[in-house]
Amino acid sequence: MCVFVTGGAGFIGGNFVLDWLAQSDELVVNIDKLTYAGNLQTLASLQGDDRHVFVQADIADFERIAELLRTHQPRALINFAAESHVDRSIHGPGEFIQTNVVGTFNLLEACRGYWSELPAAQRAGFRFLHVSTDEVYGSLTADAPAFTEGHRYEPNSPYSASKAASDHLVRAWHHTYGLPVLTTHCSNNYGPYHFPEKLIPLVILRALAGEALPIYGDGQQVRDWLYVKDHCSAIRRVLEQGQVGETYNVGGWNEKSNLEVVHTLCDLLDEQRPRADGRSYREQIRFVQDRPGHDRRYAIDASRLERELGWRPQETFASGLQQTVTWYLHNTAWIEGVTSGSYRQWLAQQY
Ligand code: NAD
Ligand code: DAU
Repeated sequence: MCVFVTGGAGFIGGNFVLDWLAQSDELVVNIDKLTYAGNLQTLASLQGDDRHVFVQADIADFERIAELLRTHQPRALINFAAESHVDRSIHGPGEFIQTNVVGTFNLLEACRGYWSELPAAQRAGFRFLHVSTDEVYGSLTADAPAFTEGHRYEPNSPYSASKAASDHLVRAWHHTYGLPVLTTHCSNNYGPYHFPEKLIPLVILRALAGEALPIYGDGQQVRDWLYVKDHCSAIRRVLEQGQVGETYNVGGWNEKSNLEVVHTLCDLLDEQRPRADGRSYREQIRFVQDRPGHDRRYAIDASRLERELGWRPQETFASGLQQTVTWYLHNTAWIEGVTSGSYRQWLAQQY
């Protein structure tokens, strides 16, 4: 038995592969293009482990994916591979269309060909699990109820529009061809191995470097934060027990404004790595120009996943953030590996 994971050298995919192999001996074939966001150092502990096969490939390469499917005969494919950063999608949307839309289309087509030729029992057991985002639902007003699975699609950024397009393809491949798909919509993740272009790791590293902590606009935008390992456990649950063709929201019941998140990070750093001058990291906070089209609030109603599949997050925001800060303080080799040339170029362009 084996499963395919795409994007398994990225933040969530990498955590997923590590968690999977910590709990199971089932082979993982990890397919990742290794863009700027992919990092094999995340998977260093799996070196020499024959339960993990890494393949550098583009999900948009139909022939390559089809050949890998024929060779390894997986029982499932979990699609994490994507361009994932909203700010980058504003500067250059083309890659987002190519990977998130064309890439997902190619995966679906390759899987459809493979799946349709499987013997009946394996055909029935096969799953294509598509990892999507809460951003496809758009932005909520302050007092609106949280997103349910039935919320209409209102994507606002090139990133979320490309993810919405991929979700529609996944849905259509089920309705038209019967491909056994599952889709998850998760809120903002945080935790180890998070690329420091995203708010939480960016703030930790810039605080330690004595740099300005950039808050877009007024900092009152709200996100629902989930510890990455809880997202991984939700995906495993949906993969094993989810109803084919259905979608599941995943969230932490944990809405915070960006300013609250940054204040909490500063307070944790004040405790764990106090500044040499004894002052608070909060003094480094700076309000900067807002993100164009910035979504004001996301909130996920994950009650379906709890009610039907019995999943709830294990970490609180306090415990998850504490572990995250500690992880960044103790994993300097990983950080040095990702904060190289192209990362510096991005910071210079964006801030
Ligand atoms: P990430 O940017 O950290 O990792 C993406 C990975 O995909 C990288 O390893 C990259 O090399 C790989 N990749 C990119 N293009 C590829 C291609 N064409 N072919 C093969 N591999 C390719 O992203 P992440 O934060 O780990 O997000 C993973 C998935 O989860 C994405 O689909 C994202 O939309 C979704 N998601 C993320 C969050 C979040 O908070 N980070 C929340 C909800 C959903
Ligand atoms: O909601 C799920 C989504 O969460 C995922 O689909 C995306 O892949 C993931 O990147 C994330 O998107 P966000 O845009 O919410 O994450 P980001 O970390 O970029 O920003 C979080 C909030 O912080 C957002 O409101 C923008 C703000 N921000 C971000 C950065 C990088 C700042 O105020 N300053 C910053 O420098």
